Amino acid sequence: MKIIGLTGSPREGSNTEVLVNEILKGASEAGAETKSYNLVKMDIKPCIACMHCKTHGSQCATEDDMQEFYKELRESDGFVVGSPLYFGQMSAQAKLLIDRLFAFYNPEAGDMERKKVAFTFSQGNPDEATFKDYYDYIRNVFEMAYDLVDVLVSKGNQLPGDVKNNEHNLAKAKKIGKEMASKMF
Ligand SMILES: Cc1cc2nc3c(=O)[nH]c(=O)nc-3n(C[C@H](O)[C@H](O)[C@H](O)COP(=O)(O)O)c2cc1C
Repeated sequence: MKIIGLTGSPREGSNTEVLVNEILKGASEAGAETKSYNLVKMDIKPCIACMHCKTHGSQCATEDDMQEFYKELRESDGFVVGSPLYFGQMSAQAKLLIDRLFAFYNPEAGDMERKKVAFTFSQGNPDEATFKDYYDYIRNVFEMAYDLVDVLVSKGNQLPGDVKNNEHNLAKAKKIGKEMASKMF
């Protein structure tokens, strides 16, 4: 069982990274092997919609750091994507990753629907309901292609590491990690 974590915040000590690592910790405690990537440090180019992946067995033609991640993803049982909320959406760094996952979007092949996926967002606004439509949309889109475990939203985080004072969020993150590592098919 292998679970990969991907952090899409550019800040050092970001709340997003704390949450992703807590999910990975939960997975690790449940026996999973884990690996963590910081998207900000990776060279990930935008999807150019060339459709090469659709005629070449899900192989993306763009040569960049995604190639390593594609390999990891094939070998993994699931992955967690973390992002700060920027203007009501995931960060640009996280979106680059998501668009490039189109290479694996092939419901007929059924490759990905067994992969477990979790999302975690950190937002500054103390009211989660303000962005409910966006979080619901993330749930709906990812449920179509993956086994979505959960979307964890941590609210009211202004400074890097604020979430460390939020025991409820940390416990929830760990629980998600454990669930990712234990759900069997
Ligand atoms: C460009 C930018 C846009 C932001 N937009 C929002 C927003 O729409 N809603 C919100 O609640 N917080 C917003 N924030 C605040 C961040 O989401 C918040 O500080 C978050 O906890 C940062 O996560 P991090 O510590 O993982 O980087 C924004 C911050 C930046 C830099």
